[in-house]
Order: sequence, then structure tokens, then C-alpha cells
Amino acid sequence: MTQVSPSLLSANFGNLDQDLEMLNASDASMLHIDVMDGVFVPNISFGFPVIEAIARKAEKPLDVHLMIVDPGRYVNQVRDCGAAIMNVHWEACTHLDRVIQHIHQAGMKAAVTLNPATPVHFLEDIIEELDMVLLMSVNPGFAAQKFIKGTVRKVAQLRQLIDARQSKALIEVDGGINLETGAEVVAAGADVLVAGNFVFKASDPAAAIANLSRLS
Ligand code: DX5
Ligand code: ZN
Repeated sequence: MTQVSPSLLSANFGNLDQDLEMLNASDASMLHIDVMDGVFVPNISFGFPVIEAIARKAEKPLDVHLMIVDPGRYVNQVRDCGAAIMNVHWEACTHLDRVIQHIHQAGMKAAVTLNPATPVHFLEDIIEELDMVLLMSVNPGFAAQKFIKGTVRKVAQLRQLIDARQSKALIEVDGGINLETGAEVVAAGADVLVAGNFVFKASDPAAAIANLSRLS
């Protein structure tokens, strides 16, 4: 089974309860929460009060993807609002090792995200410490963009690195995921698929999640 992390960015923020009930009853393994600051990425999404509201209703672990500068400043706040996994961008952390240690000390799982142009080998000296690596398959900032093909090769490179180092890190892929692109990255070694548009614009979102989770 492939794990699915639906991205709430494409949910209906006018009636989140309804979408959260659907997600709680679905095959989703976790919920992907996209935080954008308008500086690291050219868009602004939402912050802590919204994540807290989601956490009160959600029955799945929250996978919080921080598209913000210097995310290490917010480790305790991210934990306090109910995150299980804190996902920071490699490009946003000068002292990545310190940030990862801090996330673990705060009691969360630690994940590092790579932008499309950031090579996998930049993780060589931190891979053993990570619970998950998120490969961006679009440039972060917006839902419903087109999948960048080169990501498939990066997934295979990351699979090799993780296996060679016997790291426990899961491989997650985010951006432009549907049944076709999802199948390609799963075949290359991905464990977790993030999907926003494909899930929430589907006529039956729970079925869309189930179909992604059956990819192997
Ligand atoms: C983009 C976000 C994604 C986005 C995915 O910056 O990180 O999580 O919501 O949306 P889709 O699946 O529609 O590409
Ligand atoms: Zn994301």
C-alpha cells in the first residue's frame, strides 16, 4: 500500500469540517498542511490558528510542510499546534542539523523537503537522521501545477541513498500527483504521495485517495 497525504490547500476552507470528516473516514495515512509565508514562496496560505483548528478535528497525523524562511524559529509552535511531522525546506535552513535535532527534541518526526533544482546528494550527511524526505515535483507555492518529470529520477537516486545508508526515511513526493504520475514515482521507490487538486477536485475524493493508495 502506498501512503497518501491529501493536501488541505485544495480543501474547502469555508467548510473544513466536511472535508475533515471525509478524510478521517478515508484511506489517507496523514494530512498534508501547506504553510506559506509570501517570502520563501510567492504565495501566502494560512498559519497556526488554522492548523490548530484542523488538529482538533483530524484523526490522522498532521504532516506540516513549511514553505517559510528560517522554519527553525517555529519548532515548538508547530509542535504545540498538533503536528506529528515537521517538514522543513533544505533551502530555508542554514543550520539544518540543528533544526532536525530540535524537531526530534520537541517530539515530532523530522522531514526535509528539496525543491526541484536541489540535488538529492545534498542530503548525504543528514539522511540517517531523517524520518522522511519530501521531493517537490513542482516549484512550491501553488496547487494544481504540472508534474516535473525529472522528479522520477530523483526518487530513484534517493531510494539508493536511503537503502545504502539503511536510513528509515520515507520518500514523499508533492506536486502534480495523479494516478499516472503517482504510479511513476511509486515504481521509482516513493512511499508517500501528496495530492491536492487530484483529491479535492475529484467527484469522489475518498475514492481518489483509495485509488492512489492502491498504486504499487
Ligand atoms: C505546493 C504544495 C503542494 C500542493 C499540491 O506548493 O506544497 O502540497 O498543495 O497540490 P497539487 O497536488 O494540486 O499539485
Ligand atoms: Zn506541500
